[in-house]
Amino acid sequence: MPPRRKKPSVPRHGSDPAAAAAGPSTAEEEPPYIEAFGHKYHHSGRIFVPFDEKEQQRMELEHRLFRHCLNGALTATRIPLNVEQILDLGSGTGLWPMEMAVRYPQAQIHGIDVSRIQKTNAVPPNVRFTIGNVEDPWPTPPDSIDFLHARSLAGGVTDWPALFKQAYEKLKPGGLLEWTEVAIQIFDFDGNFGDAELCPNFLNLWRDVSRRNNIDFTPSPNGPEWLVEAGFEKIAQRTEILPIGDWAQDDKLRTRQALMNTISHQHFTNHCGLLFTKCGWTREQFDAVAPTFFTDIEAESSKPYTMV
Ligand SMILES: C[S@@+](CC[C@H](N)C(=O)[O-])C[C@H]1O[C@@H](n2cnc3c(N)ncnc32)[C@H](O)[C@@H]1O
Repeated sequence: MPPRRKKPSVPRHGSDPAAAAAGPSTAEEEPPYIEAFGHKYHHSGRIFVPFDEKEQQRMELEHRLFRHCLNGALTATRIPLNVEQILDLGSGTGLWPMEMAVRYPQAQIHGIDVSRIQKTNAVPPNVRFTIGNVEDPWPTPPDSIDFLHARSLAGGVTDWPALFKQAYEKLKPGGLLEWTEVAIQIFDFDGNFGDAELCPNFLNLWRDVSRRNNIDFTPSPNGPEWLVEAGFEKIAQRTEILPIGDWAQDDKLRTRQALMNTISHQHFTNHCGLLFTKCGWTREQFDAVAPTFFTDIEAESSKPYTMV
């Protein structure tokens, strides 16, 4: 069960979502991007996930992985078919909103992303995108959203409690929020949850540079507390394991494992470039250390996995 916004104890705001919604974003001149380890990052230097073509390929793989974990569905939440207003935070190339648009043709789906990377050649008429930082006020009136979706935003958000407060304000009473993050943690599978956590040196290093950059790539353990603080009720968590390496037995886990292996091996530097260069690392120094992540894991576990 996703968290649900409880009924308000304060007077409702009487806004008209359609009237107050932002018009289409215009392609204004944007300052130059930041380049690090061959990847392109948002000019603000506050978004530690890149937006280049290679990262867009990774987003597509991750989208397939998430859908696989949901048995092909687009949400874990049961959304009424007559849902009206859907907001997607950090839409990336826009795969999720565009697929939702086909599933819910009567809904208006609004995606916000800080980078202009949405595939605009075949946008369904009920989808629109706005360019903006989701840590700023969203161009949506209070009490206007039925379903709010945020997936893989970690690396671009510094103040999660403030984000959830805004989510609460913008949702209609009874509205639903679904939030998904992959943990940057590795566990050793021994047949039950509560498995030992592995701490390859590289992961400790990663956590150190993340802390120094004031960014948390594994925010979900704090989610329930932040959501309660924001006012949400009926909060539920769902966890799926994502195997890495070559140990999964059944077809379902093997498919996830193949996607995870591609994501972790082919896209390892995507989220490291800005993090490490801002802490003074050169590419050569990074390349000398990064491969130890995989060798340390292989040395410690024959069944490593992470979680979503
Ligand atoms: C890893 S991608 C995930 C894309 C999409 N949510 C999905 O799950 O397929 C993260 C996206 O969130 C965007 N993003 C991260 N932080 C953001 C922020 N503070 N404001 C707006 N967009 C943000 C990035 O630009 C990127 O497109």
